Amino acid sequence: MAKDVIIALDFKNKEECLNFLDKFDEKLYVKVGLELFYSEGPQIINEIKKRGHKIFLDLKLHDIPNTVKGAANSLKNLGADMTNLHICGGSAMIKAAREVFENSILIGVTVLTSTDEETLHREILVDKDFSLEDTVISYAKMGKKNGLDGIVCSALEVPKIKEKVGKDFLTVTPGIRLDDSSNGDQKRVVTPKYARELGSDYIVVGRPITKSEDPLKVYKIIKKEFVGE
Ligand code: C5P
Repeated sequence: MAKDVIIALDFKNKEECLNFLDKFDEKLYVKVGLELFYSEGPQIINEIKKRGHKIFLDLKLHDIPNTVKGAANSLKNLGADMTNLHICGGSAMIKAAREVFENSILIGVTVLTSTDEETLHREILVDKDFSLEDTVISYAKMGKKNGLDGIVCSALEVPKIKEKVGKDFLTVTPGIRLDDSSNGDQKRVVTPKYARELGSDYIVVGRPITKSEDPLKVYKIIKKEFVGE
């Protein structure tokens, strides 16, 4: 399975985003999330694709199946290589999206990393018999059963996911830091090398690259540690 580093383009606008991309002389895999997509619209995807980069469109779809199907049809024409949705939208919603994204990677968000055990039980009302980890595994299994290619999770969860859900089920893991970069608001971070050892398929890296004084150099270090080339 091909491993890759996905750079999170968490920029406010197109100008900042394209200035950043101009620093690179190679084709990248990048993630466009809600901030950039909502500020610039679908055109930003065309601009990035024109430059030859692969795209993970991180819009976390979650609505009734018919609406998700419509949204997926609108997004499909943009030609992203990877898209995602919230698994808690249920099996019918996942199937509706899968039917549309037949030839690209579709992954799921299980429980947001901002949700802790207490919120899970008290606010989302998941029965106390199911721990947060049980919930993540159960959502991942349900996602797989309905056609998802993988999930977003912490690299620390990868061994368990691979064991319980399957070796081929993709894991896309944020929360990556080189030893010397600051954690920012990320709590459970791992190095690219450790993410590789844990069996991550894709790592998502934002600020350690985007806020660096030499993004190209840091990207190459991270890529070498994770992919080995
Ligand atoms: O800058 P940093 O490397 O922390 O960026 C990580 C990226 O991965 C951000 O775009 C963030 O929204 C995303 N992400 C995350 N944790 C999750 C899911 C997505 O950090 N559980």
